[in-house]
Amino acid sequence: MNDKQLVALQAAKYVKNDMVVGLGTGSTANYFIDELARLSREDGLKVTTVASSTISAQRAQSLNLPIVALEHIRQIDLYVDGADEITPDKTLLKGRGSDLVKEKLLAKAATEFIAVADSSKLVSYIGQNFVIPIEVIPFAWQLARKNLEDIGAQGDLRPNAAKDGFWITSHGSYVLDMKFDRSLDAATLNTLINNTPGVVEHGIFYKLADTVLIADNGIVSEYQATEH
Ligand code: 5RP
Repeated sequence: MNDKQLVALQAAKYVKNDMVVGLGTGSTANYFIDELARLSREDGLKVTTVASSTISAQRAQSLNLPIVALEHIRQIDLYVDGADEITPDKTLLKGRGSDLVKEKLLAKAATEFIAVADSSKLVSYIGQNFVIPIEVIPFAWQLARKNLEDIGAQGDLRPNAAKDGFWITSHGSYVLDMKFDRSLDAATLNTLINNTPGVVEHGIFYKLADTVLIADNGIVSEYQATEH
């Protein structure tokens, strides 16, 4: 069993009967969805799920997990999702794909948000390994980028897979992949990007993860945050 699967299985132990559970997106989240389905099938676990993406919804449906649409919920019990980066204060960078809007809505709506990852995702600061994805309303991209450049960011629109156009998210937005000055901490970045007109959402999940589970060479442990 690999570390992503191991940590997903550990997160599934937090699921109790009758919970409404948010399903993340990505390879680690997929292992969690599979395990939920197994627990429902083999142990009679009763859950309702809400998916953060069409791909996760399809997976849950194909495994016969009961699923409700995001617009039908006000609050959920548990959300389990992966991350691209995790800093010492448990800030996450997410949204390599196109689904960070739903991911952040579910993270915020959850009584408990558990982030699951292997140890390769641990970093010292947000933006260490990846650019920061920022979803923007298409007609606002140029103005939004100018405002971000004014606070020291550099970057461009994400191209589509064929490289003959721009990436369009599940909700019809463009994505600016931006790199910021290292001196800006996650709290500052979160505020600055939130305050940029035309931004729909961005990949910094600041103070949203309640629990972070990390698998490292076959051992899962709860990541102990160190506040700055
Ligand atoms: C998608 C995400 C994923 O959770 C993140 O990219 C991690 O993916 P994986 O579990 O495949 O490493 O934020 O928007």
